[in-house]
Amino acid sequence: MEGQLNQKERSIISNWVTQLKPERTLEVGTWKGGGSTLHIIKALEANRQGHLWGIEASQGIYESMVANIRSAGDELVARFTPVFGFSQKVIPDLIKDMSKDAVFGFVFLDGGDNPMEQIEEFQLIRDYVPVGGVIMGHDAKLRKGKWLVPYVRAHDNWECVLHDVSEEGLFEARKVREQPSEESRKNAASVLSSLRRQPTELIGRWLPTPVIKVIMRFIPRKLLLRITQGRK
Ligand SMILES: C[S@@+](CC[C@H](N)C(=O)[O-])C[C@H]1O[C@@H](n2cnc3c(N)ncnc32)[C@H](O)[C@@H]1O
Repeated sequence: MEGQLNQKERSIISNWVTQLKPERTLEVGTWKGGGSTLHIIKALEANRQGHLWGIEASQGIYESMVANIRSAGDELVARFTPVFGFSQKVIPDLIKDMSKDAVFGFVFLDGGDNPMEQIEEFQLIRDYVPVGGVIMGHDAKLRKGKWLVPYVRAHDNWECVLHDVSEEGLFEARKVREQPSEESRKNAASVLSSLRRQPTELIGRWLPTPVIKVIMRFIPRKLLLRITQGRK
C-alpha cells in the first residue's frame, strides 16, 4: 500500500501508540493510507483497543486511501474512521460531535505545507490531549513544521524531542501539565508572532493566488520545492 515516512519514523509512531494504548487517536493528512495511517491502526489492533480518525482534504487521495485501507482487512477497517475535509474545519466538528469523549491520546499532524496549518491544528487539539498524551508532527525540519517546533517548545507544559531520523524530521511533544504557565504562554505567543513576520511567508501571504500560480509555472522544480516545502 502506498505510503510515506521511512521505517524509523513508522516505528517511532507505532511505539508511541503501543506504549500509550490510547482509546482515540487523530491524524491530519493520511495521503494514500500506507504510511502513518496503516501503522497507527496496526498498533491499535495489536493493543486490541483504540480507534483512529484520519483526516484527508484531497478528494481523489481520500478515495484511494479509503479503498486501500478497506483492502487491509476487517480488523483494521473497524479501527478506522476516514474523514474528508480540511483539518481547520473538520477538527472542531469532530470535537463538537464527540462532546465529552473528545480526548485524543495520540495525534499525528502531516497535512499541508503552510507552516501556519500545523500551528492551527495544534491550537485546535491541544486541550483535548490528556497529560501524558503525545502530539507528533512530520516535516519538522521543513517548511511545514518550521513554526510548530519553536512554538510548542516555548510552552512549559510540553516535553519536546526532534527526531532527526529523516530529511524531513519528526517532532514529538508530550504533554506534562494541563496548561502552560502564564509567562510561557506569553513567550510562545511572541515567538509565533515573530515567526509570522518571516519575509518569505509574508510575501506568500500578500501576493494574490493567481500571481503565485504564474510565478510557480516558470521556476525550476528544485527551487519550487525549496520555496513550497523548504527542501534543500
Ligand atoms: C505528506 S502527505 C501525508 C503523508 C501520510 N501521513 C503518510 O504517512 O503517508 C500530506 C497529505 O495531507 C493532505 N492535506 C493537506 N492539507 C490538509 C488539511 N488542511 N487537512 C487535511 N489534509 C490535508 C494532502 O492532501 C496530503 O494527502
